[in-house]
Amino acid sequence: MARIGVIGTGSMGGMLIRKFVETGAFPAGDIVASNRSPEKVRAVAVATGIGIAASNLALVAASDVIFICVKPLEVKPLLKELRGALAADKLLVSIAADVAIHEISALCDARVARVIPSVTSECSKGVSLVTFGDNSTEMDRRLLLSALGRICRPVETEEENLEMLADLTSCAPAFISSIMHEFALSATRRENISPEFAELLVMETLVGTAELLKTVNSFEEVVTRVATKGGITEEGVKVIRKVVPSMYDELLEVTLAKHSLVKERIRNQAS
Ligand SMILES: NC(=O)c1ccc[n+]([C@@H]2O[C@H](COP(=O)([O-])OP(=O)(O)OC[C@H]3O[C@@H](n4cnc5c(N)ncnc54)[C@H](OP(=O)(O)O)[C@@H]3O)[C@@H](O)[C@H]2O)c1
Repeated sequence: MARIGVIGTGSMGGMLIRKFVETGAFPAGDIVASNRSPEKVRAVAVATGIGIAASNLALVAASDVIFICVKPLEVKPLLKELRGALAADKLLVSIAADVAIHEISALCDARVARVIPSVTSECSKGVSLVTFGDNSTEMDRRLLLSALGRICRPVETEEENLEMLADLTSCAPAFISSIMHEFALSATRRENISPEFAELLVMETLVGTAELLKTVNSFEEVVTRVATKGGITEEGVKVIRKVVPSMYDELLEVTLAKHSLVKERIRNQAS
């Protein structure tokens, strides 16, 4: 069994550990974690039964597969701290946005993969994007895809598309939730209903639509089933088709611009 190390037990690192243990992807006894502030890693260890490493270096020494779950600008400083320890017999899995495989490989000899998880793994749903470095092996591929397969649908992709695709998978829960929230609020501006009640109705409908999508497998099919020709829903769909494309074009423009900015800051960090 591979020994697993997780550096950074914040929102994503903590979730991965909990889900790996809960689904049996990796047994708690095979996982150790470390975190800059000790109370966070202690809480995860108490909740899941995993071990706590005395330091990041001790974690690397005790692990075959190391998940790096720190913020993008914290990756290079961390790799410098671990320089020499991340040898070719280790698989390093970075979940950080915007830090390219070649930038990671420049600072270590480990085999490298990148994963962009989604908060939807919390309920064992959604997509994690996965991309492998040239030095990774077939065994690495099988191990990572099989573990992720327990907590989501892993989708292997090219690194060059990662940011764009991450908007559709890892940012999307926030985009979908905020747009549904606005839908509910709009109803409260027209009628005397509480935001909580409007939100409940939209939320239940969203969950139902997601279930329905699993059976029909197409957004267009759901639209066709509800928006009958000449009916009321069709009028609403026309507004969405007029207004929303430019909203999403603008959304992708600003998120991709932000990615470029972060990437530039990472490039300029000392190696
Ligand atoms: N949130 C998402 O939905 C999402 C989705 C896809 C990918 N990601 C990626 O996941 C990564 C983590 O995001 P997050 O939302 O989980 O951030 P987060 O909640 O801030 O977690 C980062 C954790 O890393 C710890 N840390 C920082 N430097 C460290 C070091 N040198 N050694 C040990 N621990 C260290 C922090 O410790 P402290 O307790 O001291 O702060 C913190 O607990 C990011 O790179 C992000 O791009 C996030």
